[in-house]
Amino acid sequence: MKTESTDPIHSSLGDYYATVIDSVGDGVIVIGLDGIITLCNPAAEEISGYSRRQALGASFEKLFAQETTLLEMVTKTIRTGITISDHENVVLRDHGRFKPVGVTCYPLVLPSGENIGAILTLKDITYIRDLEAAVRQADRLSTLGTLAAGLAHEVKNPLGGIKGAAQLLEQELTEDSEQREYTRIMIRETERIDHIIRELLDLASPRGLKLSPVNLHRVLGDILQLQNHTILQRDITLNAHFDPSIPAIMADKELLTRLFLNLILNAIDAVGDSGSLTVTSRVLSDYCLSQNERRSRMVAVEICDDGPGIPPEDLENIWTPFFSTKSGGTGLGLTICHKIVAEHRGMIKAESTPGHGTKFTILLPLIQ
Ligand SMILES: Nc1ncnc2c1ncn2[C@@H]1O[C@H](COP(=O)(O)OP(=O)(O)OP(=O)(O)O)[C@@H](O)[C@H]1O
Ligand SMILES: [Mg+2]
Repeated sequence: MKTESTDPIHSSLGDYYATVIDSVGDGVIVIGLDGIITLCNPAAEEISGYSRRQALGASFEKLFAQETTLLEMVTKTIRTGITISDHENVVLRDHGRFKPVGVTCYPLVLPSGENIGAILTLKDITYIRDLEAAVRQADRLSTLGTLAAGLAHEVKNPLGGIKGAAQLLEQELTEDSEQREYTRIMIRETERIDHIIRELLDLASPRGLKLSPVNLHRVLGDILQLQNHTILQRDITLNAHFDPSIPAIMADKELLTRLFLNLILNAIDAVGDSGSLTVTSRVLSDYCLSQNERRSRMVAVEICDDGPGIPPEDLENIWTPFFSTKSGGTGLGLTICHKIVAEHRGMIKAESTPGHGTKFTILLPLIQ
């Protein structure tokens, strides 16, 4: 009998199968009955963090010793010959980073029916999780936004009355009256509430975008230049890494300025008297925000600081109106950012390691 390597038809068929498996976008790992890995495609290398050289011939149990769910699935499939799926609970550790994956483990069966191992398919579902989080956030924000806008509307009229009465009272007082200080405080504070209410109403009402070609680097550069005096006054190192190939994108310049200003001000607040602030831009080709959407090019802007970070229990709440841990903060900044990004059909996410800083990533479609 000829061996595969000397048989041109079989070896080219073998190459063909290898090409097919290497081209599959999901990770494929094949494990023999002895627990040794016999096949690992490029997507599996990417998802698991192990190269094909590390994986082939290695013991699956040893290589994935930390991934108990995967070990259980493979052991059970090899023992029973049944297919097992888990798309909810599996998280892989790749160099300390946690990656949610959907896994199915199939038995590897010969035509005779003999079970000779297991085939594990791995699908990186990070973007599905991100999307689910974005939908949850949007739901929560729209309910809160409607409620807050209703309240704001009710408060606006009595507030106007208070301000008017304070102004009349001020006119009654003589120039040198000490009580003028009180009326000034009343007027200033009602104006502050009025400002918050206007922001809230703005937040709740859909506003058409005024689209024009926007040079992102100019917007970011202008904001950073405006903040330069604060940065110089304190011991803050500013790093800007802009990808010069990013073209002007169709967007609302005023809103993008507001978005990046809010994020940069938050980062400056976070670093306090000394630290570093890094603003990066790059193009992500072939990115898709949802499974059904066509893959398209996106621009990613990252704003990182090495401030105290955000505690995990606060991370979900930072987008909620009025969530603020600052004494003078209104807590509307990030809610506004969220809305601006959604209106541009983009995505915003925050990642933070308490004690090491925070990274906000904004993805915007690269529409020219
Ligand atoms: N870069 C950051 N580092 C640490 N915490 C942050 C950062 N950005 C935001 N936060 C947290 O999220 C909260 C909400 O931010 P947001 O910008 O919405 O409101 P704010 O900055 O408190 O007030 P304002 O409405 O004036 O912006 C902040 O109070 C802070 O606790
Ligand atoms: Mg803010």
